[in-house]
Amino acid sequence: MHLRRLGLLLVTILALPATALGQMVSEAIGDDIVRYHASADARESALPSFALLDPHMPAAGDSPEGFEIAPTFFVDEDGRHSFTIEIDTGTSLYGTGEVPGPLLRNGRTTTLWNSDSYGYKESTQSLYKSHPWVLAVRADGSAFGVIADSTYRIVIDLTEDITFHAEGPEFPVIVIDRDSPQEVLIALSQLTGTIPMPPKWAIGYHQCRYSYYPDSQVREIAEGFRDRDLPADVIWMDIHYMDEYRVFRFDDELFPDPKGLNDYLLNDLNFHNVWMIDPGIGAETERFPEEGYSVYEEMIEQDHTVKTAEGEIYKGEVWPGWCVFPDYTQQKTRDWWAGLYEDFMAQGITGVWNDMNEPAIFNVESKTMPEDNLHAGDPDMGGPGDHARFHNVYGMLMIKATRNGVQAANPDKRPFVLSRATYLGGQRYAAGWSGDNSADWWDLEGSVPMVLNMSLSGFPFYGPDLGGFIGNGDAQQFERWFAFGVMLPFARGHTAVGNVQKEPWTFGKEVEDTARQALNNRYMLLPYYYTLFYDAHTQGLPIARPAFFADPADPALRTEDDIFLIGEGLLIKPSLTLHSDREPVMPRGIWNPLTLEGADNPDMPEFYLKGGCIIPTGPVMQHVSEKALNPLTLVVALDENGSAEGTLYEDSGDGYEFKEGDFLLSTYSAERRGDTVVVTLSSSDGERERPDRQMNVRLILEDGTEVQGQGTDGEEITIELP
Ligand code: GLC
Repeated sequence: MHLRRLGLLLVTILALPATALGQMVSEAIGDDIVRYHASADARESALPSFALLDPHMPAAGDSPEGFEIAPTFFVDEDGRHSFTIEIDTGTSLYGTGEVPGPLLRNGRTTTLWNSDSYGYKESTQSLYKSHPWVLAVRADGSAFGVIADSTYRIVIDLTEDITFHAEGPEFPVIVIDRDSPQEVLIALSQLTGTIPMPPKWAIGYHQCRYSYYPDSQVREIAEGFRDRDLPADVIWMDIHYMDEYRVFRFDDELFPDPKGLNDYLLNDLNFHNVWMIDPGIGAETERFPEEGYSVYEEMIEQDHTVKTAEGEIYKGEVWPGWCVFPDYTQQKTRDWWAGLYEDFMAQGITGVWNDMNEPAIFNVESKTMPEDNLHAGDPDMGGPGDHARFHNVYGMLMIKATRNGVQAANPDKRPFVLSRATYLGGQRYAAGWSGDNSADWWDLEGSVPMVLNMSLSGFPFYGPDLGGFIGNGDAQQFERWFAFGVMLPFARGHTAVGNVQKEPWTFGKEVEDTARQALNNRYMLLPYYYTLFYDAHTQGLPIARPAFFADPADPALRTEDDIFLIGEGLLIKPSLTLHSDREPVMPRGIWNPLTLEGADNPDMPEFYLKGGCIIPTGPVMQHVSEKALNPLTLVVALDENGSAEGTLYEDSGDGYEFKEGDFLLSTYSAERRGDTVVVTLSSSDGERERPDRQMNVRLILEDGTEVQGQGTDGEEITIELP
């Protein structure tokens, strides 16, 4: 036994009240996935899991022999149930959800307590989302993951080993052991779920502002993109569309005809739309004596509200003034909430943005509701309980209900929901963004590791407010942020009320040109992104990945967060700072420089393609369904054996027919044969017919030069090497 472990054990024994000294129980819940309970009693009394797909996941057998990673449970000096898992030297720690600062989390602490953290900085302990999860990558590149299956406030302490301190009762600890970090993430998503397949338009570019109003401004902005040939798919409506900030109500002067607006956007401009809905329901009925606000009235009549400790209806202040809050821990309330979307979506609405769902409350020090507030809690939620238990899952339960409502309103479409607050497993319901960042170089640079740690926490559909929410920033900063930011999985520009306009054209021609290059690249790469979203949906692999995924055993890559990978094959090296000349560490092996648009623009990122990879690209288009994928262009880099492989996923872009076989999944291979390279369709899956289309090949050589070939998709293409 290590001395340290002995010390820990002694501390543990001394800190434990005699009655809590039960025998730890362990059980397998999957291959090399073990769930630990502090005692048999703890196992009996465990609350249902909110993270796992199955809240009562049964044991699959005894924990496997020789399984080495085990927690040491203890009660800390503050009475919190805690555990430690020791790590060996050379182990790098990641994940812990949405965290500010660098990718590597060794040495840091994070407090899981969903918080409205306007203007967060590196020292901010709690952001908007809670992921009681750590990914540990050992020196040899093998990896394990740890879930603390509790919804209460948790401190994750990575200053030495992996230690969790949770308020509330005892909780299970789940450990996944695998040969690589990638495999750990796949196992995590088998436990907690993958993202649903998004509608294709949601992986295009989104333009937002707090707020575009009146409706004529919304039209102008969308037209502005089309007039300038700036590709985009979505425009967003923030709170100013509402009547006195009351959700599900439109201001009849600013937005007199939301259906007409949405129809125009979609039918004339091919713009989808997303509208905001917050959880706070305006309760100041005396301000509107002449009209009833049915959402509020139903809340009261049907008893949907969160209560105070005394059992009174709880009221807290948010945008509409005093509000009541739906208690999403009840099925009846989630069903009612879902039902509200029927009329709302009938206005031609295509996506929903749930914000302030930590829940955020104004004018109180805690920025949220009292922890002793009461939730009715259905039996499958573990029964009634205080807000301390449900706080971290409040947002996730809200988006679960929202998604159901959006789905029911348009059963043939794939919902798109964006959420600010969520919890481990929340990828099942909504995409997310990094909340109220600032137009600051720190935030710009930090947006890369934030996305990566969310990727490493099972939450792949995520991105920052490009250009910064708080403050104006300047042209140079906006240009740099936009140039690489639109390559992140969720690509949306947004900024706060009172700031300068931040559309891609408002900072002048140079910035507009850079933005166009960046957007053109994103849209040219859409076939690749869409395939990666499909992989994320089916297998649970993230879309944006850290450089160390290319070589998990290389210690030099463990801290590298100035570059990132999209999928396995595309490496992006942005210009993240104004003055630094730091050269990021590149993964070893073959990474050929790939020329995309803007290659001679110093503000644009550099792109590299991994040897052995083929990525599918298509024509630049102004929105995701403007053009058919014709020609299909495969971009190829050979590995040291002269071969390469890659896939392309295609379907109708929306709806669920892909689940019935209406898709086409093509695997292409390239192989050097003497002085030629032969590219073939090596396998094909799905019932969708292969389009009769031209196929181009761009073979990227190690010095970045390329050789091109042309032919027909489905047939062999041979390229002569120089
Ligand atoms: C919150 C959101 C922000 C939004 C604003 C107004 O601050 O984080 O994105 O624009 O509220 O709704």
